[in-house]
Amino acid sequence: MSTSSEPGSAPTGFVPLCVPEIRGNAWDYVKQCLDSNWVSTAGPFVDRFEQMVAGSAGAKYGVATVNGTAALHVALLAAGVRPDDEVLVPALTFIATANAVRYAGAWPVFLDAEPVHGQLDPQKLTDFLERECTSRGGALVNRTTGRTVRVVLPVHVLGHPVDMDPVCEVAERFGLAIIEDAAEALGAKYKGRPVGRFGAAACFSFNGNKLLTCGGGGMIVTDDPRLAERARYLTTQAKDDPLEYVHGEVGFNYRLTSLQAALGCAQMELLDQFVGAKRATAAVYDAAFRDVPMIEPFAEAPWAFSTSWMYTVRVGRDQSRPLMRHLDAHRIQTRPLWQPLHCSPAHAGRQSYRVEVADRLYRESLSLPCSVGLTPQQREQVLATISAFWRSERATA
Ligand SMILES: Cc1ncc(COP(=O)(O)O)c(C=O)c1O
Repeated sequence: MSTSSEPGSAPTGFVPLCVPEIRGNAWDYVKQCLDSNWVSTAGPFVDRFEQMVAGSAGAKYGVATVNGTAALHVALLAAGVRPDDEVLVPALTFIATANAVRYAGAWPVFLDAEPVHGQLDPQKLTDFLERECTSRGGALVNRTTGRTVRVVLPVHVLGHPVDMDPVCEVAERFGLAIIEDAAEALGAKYKGRPVGRFGAAACFSFNGNKLLTCGGGGMIVTDDPRLAERARYLTTQAKDDPLEYVHGEVGFNYRLTSLQAALGCAQMELLDQFVGAKRATAAVYDAAFRDVPMIEPFAEAPWAFSTSWMYTVRVGRDQSRPLMRHLDAHRIQTRPLWQPLHCSPAHAGRQSYRVEVADRLYRESLSLPCSVGLTPQQREQVLATISAFWRSERATA
């Protein structure tokens, strides 16, 4: 067990935010790749990894990709998103979600988060569709921009699922496809069903800070054989012939390597253990913060099974950044939520609809150390350092 497996990290006493946990069969499987010469994009580990991830999400097909952003890009294309279409995206997510929309030539429209769990607000999604869109020539058209709204892209942020029933209901009512961005939520469940089961396709990430890692990697999962086939075609340079180098269109070199998949298989074997460790850390933090009125953890919804991938709290009295600086000075790594995307210079000028809560959550929130391998001593160090901050804050208030 290690909390210091990222190169160059972790002098003694340093508590990193969220680092990989490399154990189990990782060395054995990677060695098998090296010994067998299956190091590139073909080989048994890629197939096995696809089956393991699709199986864990209860989906029929998995298409491995080089990262989660590529998975989103290709899933959008395979779901029929065309240049100049619009995709409804939460403002409170990592920028990759919206970037993938732009890679597909489409435009994000930013929607708000709900205040309790920080997930896409289904009510504001419904309001947007009912008040701001109209049906024209069989298409759903955004009245403001005149563009076709094609897809809603709920993102299960921080390892917690979006309230999917109302999202599915309204998407069906308005003829929108759903692509789930489940990059942060492998292992999470909504009303007992794994995330990744609620739309045309879902995308996962295996980036280094995720619950499981391949070093880098992603996956599209779907029950739709045509979508899976199209995704596989696009991720492999759109090659039309098994022998001849004939390409039907401009595809992408987005395949995962066998070396990465081998690591991914070893990590998948530990999925339940890793989720258990994350949830145990969340339970310890939650219990400790019950007596700290200025800190409010993001609660787990009654219908949710969260992986607590990134343990996040709201901090009162405008103290989230001072607390972050205090923890940093004591060698405890934290991070803020993402700048809401309607404020991002990268997506300047894009439409947003009544985004208010996301801004507040961004200002107030802070993610605390929550690596799978976080030790009880490290948790205590975090909690003691936070207590000391409040004592000194009270003293100077
Ligand atoms: C919500 C979300 N979407 C997409 C991605 C992109 O995944 P990747 O970094 O593997 O490209 C990430 C994470 O990195 C993410 O957190």
